[in-house]
Amino acid sequence: MAGITDQPFRELCCRLGAGLAVSEMVSSNPKVWNTEKSKLRMIHSEEAGIRSVQIAGSCADELAFAAQVNADNGAQIIDINMGCPAKKVNKKLAGSALLREPAQVEQIVKSVVNSVNIPVTLKIRTGWCENSRNGIEIAKIAQDNGIASLAVHGRTRNDFYKGNAEYETIRAIKQAVSIPVVANGDITSVEKAEYVLNYTGADAIMVGRGAQGRPWIFREINHFLKTGTKLPAPSLNEVRSILLGHVTDLHQFYGDYLGVRIARKHVSWYIHSFALLGNELGKEQGEIFTQHFAGDQGKAFRATFNGLSSTSDQLETLELCFDQLVH
Ligand SMILES: Cc1cc2nc3c(=O)[nH]c(=O)nc-3n(C[C@H](O)[C@H](O)[C@H](O)COP(=O)(O)O)c2cc1C
Repeated sequence: MAGITDQPFRELCCRLGAGLAVSEMVSSNPKVWNTEKSKLRMIHSEEAGIRSVQIAGSCADELAFAAQVNADNGAQIIDINMGCPAKKVNKKLAGSALLREPAQVEQIVKSVVNSVNIPVTLKIRTGWCENSRNGIEIAKIAQDNGIASLAVHGRTRNDFYKGNAEYETIRAIKQAVSIPVVANGDITSVEKAEYVLNYTGADAIMVGRGAQGRPWIFREINHFLKTGTKLPAPSLNEVRSILLGHVTDLHQFYGDYLGVRIARKHVSWYIHSFALLGNELGKEQGEIFTQHFAGDQGKAFRATFNGLSSTSDQLETLELCFDQLVH
């Protein structure tokens, strides 16, 4: 996810149970690879976990070249983005706009698959709009041209992120092809994970926004799927250690200026999830979380945190906050 699944967050999610965390989308246009933003998004061969790099673009040759460069730099999987609904991406006939051009999808998939010796996966939406849900057609093209696995977000491009994801089309796609299908969209709880897996018959599920501020969701889902029982919510001490570790990693990865700014959005997501966590924890611990992070208290903490402009102030404020919670 662009702006979210950077290296620190991917590593954290994998440590907490995600089987695979795909990089932020990188453009296939080599002209932008030298920008600071792109350099930070590039994957490196020393990174832990399975290194999957997502590329976005519209030109088959350019995408094939981008795939080769990323494979040479240590990618173990190349993922092609045909799901992004952003106008500035679609206007260049990239992301989900490609779903309207099956012939071009075929060309792109062929070129990218032929350009590298590593698996190539594809991420799509169910179609461009309600009247053209052609996910099955695209899935068959993907399968026939060597795509190793297909992730499907249960919305059309015109849905953007509105309404609820639907799983009927994902189920139909799963029935139509034999390559692994990964179901995605609105999975934010262990029960929903089990439901989507069972309903679609998919081989795996993909969690996006549900992991923001709650990276432990992966181990919770794994545990529930294996045992049918729910893991207890993480303890206050564990949450403290995850959050402080994550913010420290962001500071180190991005440097002081950018690190402080990127940390703000993650901390904001943690505050949101802590407010919800309050309901899941035992009475005493739950009340502590609710008191400090729900409603106006959460807003006040977020405002304070967003006003901090140094790495040390951010870390000290978080430490102090947790010290108060623990005592
Ligand atoms: C801010 C944001 C950035 C995203 N960036 C990407 C991206 O770069 N590549 C991609 O395949 N999907 C991207 N997505 C879509 C998610 O991967 C996912 O398909 C979508 O959010 C639905 O799943 P969820 O309900 O679990 O979040 C992004 C979503 C959001 C909200």
